[in-house]
Amino acid sequence: MSFDRSIKIAPSILASDFANFGAECAAVEAQGADWIHVDVMDGHFVPNITFGPATCAAIRPHIKGVMDVHLMISPVDSYIDAFAGAGADILTAHVEAGPHIHRTLQAIRASGCKAGVALNPGTPASAVAHLLDLTDLICVMTVNPGFGGQKFIDMSAKIQELRSMIGDRPVHIEIDGGVDPVTAPMVAQAGADVLVAGSAVFKGGSVSDPAPYGENIRAIRAAAEGVYV
Ligand code: DX5
Ligand code: ZN
Repeated sequence: MSFDRSIKIAPSILASDFANFGAECAAVEAQGADWIHVDVMDGHFVPNITFGPATCAAIRPHIKGVMDVHLMISPVDSYIDAFAGAGADILTAHVEAGPHIHRTLQAIRASGCKAGVALNPGTPASAVAHLLDLTDLICVMTVNPGFGGQKFIDMSAKIQELRSMIGDRPVHIEIDGGVDPVTAPMVAQAGADVLVAGSAVFKGGSVSDPAPYGENIRAIRAAAEGVYV
């Protein structure tokens, strides 16, 4: 994985057909997705359950590019090797998931994955101030994690603060929750480069009619890049 700050659109398969993950991943990639965002929920850290490492391993062969795995689980450390073994490129853990996020990020890097750290809306930017050299991606949640299709919460001030804290370090800022063509310009302007979008990508399309996925991805990208089409 090479690093750059161009806008990347990462569809969340949380909004796709759960009986058809492989074909859904291939369809959004063919329609222009940059990364595939995979939401793992445990019914404990967040009030919803999705799937675990076996499903990630089953999805992996259907993704040509980056598999971005968002771990909404607690504890994290005992599952890192299983998700790395499932073929994740990036593993993102939440600051709020336990007392030892520093150790967790070290363990993720030791597993061979890029290390991401996620911040819930109520958690300040300062929570990652001492983690900047241990992380490859900071995920700013713009909804409370657990469900797709929620209303966007404006975190522009936090994004700007993180962007200046990061400086020249090769650290992505990813935004997760409620991203659509209306909210994308705000987060891009504040300094984000990876935009996760579930509902706004998958709405109106299907694996048998994937063209709307492409239209949706292009609309979010154009809005983020400041080109209104
Ligand atoms: C929320 C998940 C998000 C979510 C985004 O807990 O981490 O990835 O699926 O979905 P939308 O874009 O519908 O808000
Ligand atoms: Zn997510």
